[in-house]
Amino acid sequence: MVEVAVMGYGVVGSGVVEVLTSHFESIARRAKEEIRIKYILDVRDFPGSPFAEKFTNSFEQILNDPEVKVVAEVIGGLEPAYDYVKRCMLAGKSVVTSNKELVAAKGAELLKIAQQQNVNFLFEASVGGGIPIIRPISQCLAANDVIEIAGILNGTTNFILTKMIREQMSFQDALSMAQRLGYAERNPEADIEGYDACRKICILASLAFGKHVYPDQVYTKGITDLTLADVEYAGIWGGVIKLIGQVKKLDDGRVEVVVAPMFISRDSQLSGVDDVFNGILVRGDATGDIVFYGKGAGKLPTASAVVADIIDCVKHIKARKYLYWEDGSSDYVAPYEESKIAVYIRAQAAEPDAAFEAAQKKFGAVRRLYRANASEGEFAFVTGNVLPVTDIKAKLCELKQEGVKVLSMVRISDL
Ligand code: HSE
Repeated sequence: MVEVAVMGYGVVGSGVVEVLTSHFESIARRAKEEIRIKYILDVRDFPGSPFAEKFTNSFEQILNDPEVKVVAEVIGGLEPAYDYVKRCMLAGKSVVTSNKELVAAKGAELLKIAQQQNVNFLFEASVGGGIPIIRPISQCLAANDVIEIAGILNGTTNFILTKMIREQMSFQDALSMAQRLGYAERNPEADIEGYDACRKICILASLAFGKHVYPDQVYTKGITDLTLADVEYAGIWGGVIKLIGQVKKLDDGRVEVVVAPMFISRDSQLSGVDDVFNGILVRGDATGDIVFYGKGAGKLPTASAVVADIIDCVKHIKARKYLYWEDGSSDYVAPYEESKIAVYIRAQAAEPDAAFEAAQKKFGAVRRLYRANASEGEFAFVTGNVLPVTDIKAKLCELKQEGVKVLSMVRISDL
C-alpha cells in the first residue's frame, strides 16, 4: 500500500479525493498497489465530511511522515505551494500538481530538484484539465521536432466567448455562470486577462522546446475589450473569435510566444472548440498536425489528470519519470513587436468611406466588412498582408492623427 497526501481541498482537491476513493479498486489494479489517502491539508475545517479524520492544517505533519510517499499539491497560487512542493521533494517525496502558476514560474528549478532527489514531479493537470497533453508531448511525440503549438487553453474564457457568440449573453453573466460551474480561477482576472492561458503556453513551450519560457516574457492580452460587434464581424469575416495561446520555433533558435484573442477561420479545427472545452494543436515535423480536445477545466476532468499522475508516481516509486527543461534566458523570446501578423480593425470616423480608403492606402490589400446596424461612422476591415506589429501600430497612429478612432484590433490567426 502507498500512502498519499492531498494538499488543498478546493474544487480540484475535493475531486482528487473523490476519484481516489470512488475508484479505489480499479486504481489499485492499475497501480499494482492500493493508494490510501493519509492526510488532506486545508486551513478550513470540514466537520461532517466523510474524510473528517484525514484533515490536518499542519504541513509539517505531512512533511515529516515518512509513510507519505506521494503528495498532490492542488492549493494553487505560488505561495505557499512553491515552498511546500520544494520541501516535499527535498524530503524524498514525489509531487504531482495541477498548479500552472507554479510550473510556469518555477518549473525548471523544480524539475532540477526532482532529478537531484530522484523523485517525480508531474503536472499533467496543469494544462488542458482532463486532456492528456504533457505526456503526449514529452513521450509519444518525442521522435518529432515540434514546430508549433497553438490552442484554446482556458476553459472559462472559451465558455464566455461561446455564450456571447451563440446566445448573445453579456460578458458578466457568462463569467458568473463559469464561476458557479467551478471553471474560473479564485481570482477570475487570471482567466479573462489571459494570465492563465499564458502560464499554460509557457509550460507547453518549455516542455516542447526544452528551455523555460517565463510568463513575463509573453505578450498577453485577454478578452475584456471584446464586444458583441467584434464577435459579429468575426462571423461576417468567416470565423469566430477565440483566445489563443501560441508558440512557434524561429529559425534563429528563439521562440515567438503570444496569448491574444484571434479570428479563427471556420475551416480551422480549433473553430469548433466551444464551451469549457480546450483544443490544443501540436505541429510536429514527422506527425504533421495533431489536435487534442476535451474538457479543459472543472472538478473531475482536472482531478482525473492529477490522479493519473499519482498512479504514475506509485508505479515509478523507484524509477523516476524523465521530464526536464533548462532555465530560460532574457533573449530567448522574440519581442512581440517583431511578429508579422494580419489584423481586423474596427474604427469610427466622421467620413467612414474616406477613412477606409485612407486605411486601404496604408495597409495595401484589405477587405472591408459590413454589418447591419453598424453604429454611426463605424467601419471595419481585415488586412490581407502580414506586417510587423510595429508597422501596424505606426499606421494606426497615422490614422488616429487623421481623425479616425480605432475601436478594436484583433489578430487574424493563420491556424
Ligand atoms: N480557470 C482555468 C480555466 C481552470 O478556465 O481553464 C483550468 O486550468
